[in-house]
Amino acid sequence: MNIAILGFGVVGSGVAEVIKNNSDSILKNSNVSLKVTRILDIRDFSGNEYENIITNNFDDILGDDTIDIVVETMGGVKPAFDFVLACLNKGKHVVSSNKELVATKGYELLEAAKKNNVNFLFEASVGGGIPIIRPMSRCLAGNKISEVAGILNGTSNFILTKMIMDGMSFADALKLAQDKGYAEKDPTADVEGLDAMRKICILASLAFGYHVYPDGVYSEGISKITLEDVAFAASYDSVIKLIAMTKKLSDDKALVMVSPRLVKNDSMLSGVNGVFNACLVRGDATGDVLMYGKGAGSLATASAVVGDVIDCASYSEERKFFGWDDKKENYLADYLDCETALYVRATGADKAAIEKAFGSVQYLTRENQGADEIAFVTPVKKEKELRDTLACLNMNVLSIIRTADY
Ligand code: HSE
Repeated sequence: MNIAILGFGVVGSGVAEVIKNNSDSILKNSNVSLKVTRILDIRDFSGNEYENIITNNFDDILGDDTIDIVVETMGGVKPAFDFVLACLNKGKHVVSSNKELVATKGYELLEAAKKNNVNFLFEASVGGGIPIIRPMSRCLAGNKISEVAGILNGTSNFILTKMIMDGMSFADALKLAQDKGYAEKDPTADVEGLDAMRKICILASLAFGYHVYPDGVYSEGISKITLEDVAFAASYDSVIKLIAMTKKLSDDKALVMVSPRLVKNDSMLSGVNGVFNACLVRGDATGDVLMYGKGAGSLATASAVVGDVIDCASYSEERKFFGWDDKKENYLADYLDCETALYVRATGADKAAIEKAFGSVQYLTRENQGADEIAFVTPVKKEKELRDTLACLNMNVLSIIRTADY
């Protein structure tokens, strides 16, 4: 089957490499023969081994009837959306690694795929090389899923790991992640939680059957986490992780959010370090399942793309049943109405007043703790109640971080 790749960057070039290196084993194991025949990129690739098949004209791909499957690894919504839609309408299968595209336009593109009886698959859009979408939609299809929680951004997990294990500063760790090619072009999307938020929107849509659009989903990143917070968390037998989560509250309500959380050391998610991602799926029949692997990087992400390409080739005549409904009004719960415990770090606090306000709290300690510095974990209550109580206390709050219960 002939393949075209839109965007010859980190992931697109990885896809070409995996297909080239593994074509024999792909043929043997899946009975599918894959060949990259066209690549779209506006940059100059003189001297590159694919130089002769690189074009800067999308119509060379759209108009080429010998191309059956198009891989979109451009990122962003424009012009990726127009290109993908045009390919689907032309009867070509499309595989995308583009989480922004799927999170914002997934329903529309899935409908276009259905109308044209072709596949639109996007395993690589969440968790890089980790199989998540297919296991959730196939292997766990017999379950009612109640909750999905994951470490879904490799860059921020890499940064937090460097802070926790090596005491590295946030800025130095970010620079290292960028040098390793994990970060987005604009790393704000990584460190402020936007990238993980797009991914959990996709998983929430898949788990509960309604498209969850990024607008209106609460997301908080890791840029305000300090080494002091990391040290206090350790005294609570915890590590700080950026957790993207969704929980079904009823048939009409789900919580979807991203924020740093204190994760207990005995949690399956606590040992997920460096660029690795993990996704915990809670099913009524299976209980908790954890999928774990490299969440970013050229070949790891290409592995997921090529898996989808093989699926498209195997289901080239008969479309896979795969999709979800459009958004449901008033579906997203307000996180302030949901229960959690909060870690709080402050100065100028009065312990007696804290205990009177919260009933009881657990105090945390760290080496070289400031004489006026205090850290504690509140009881579990609705977040709004906890924040209202904190606002009434006369102290200088430096950090507030939620806890996790998985
Ligand atoms: N910047 C993303 C990450 C790449 O760090 O996880 C994979 O989506």
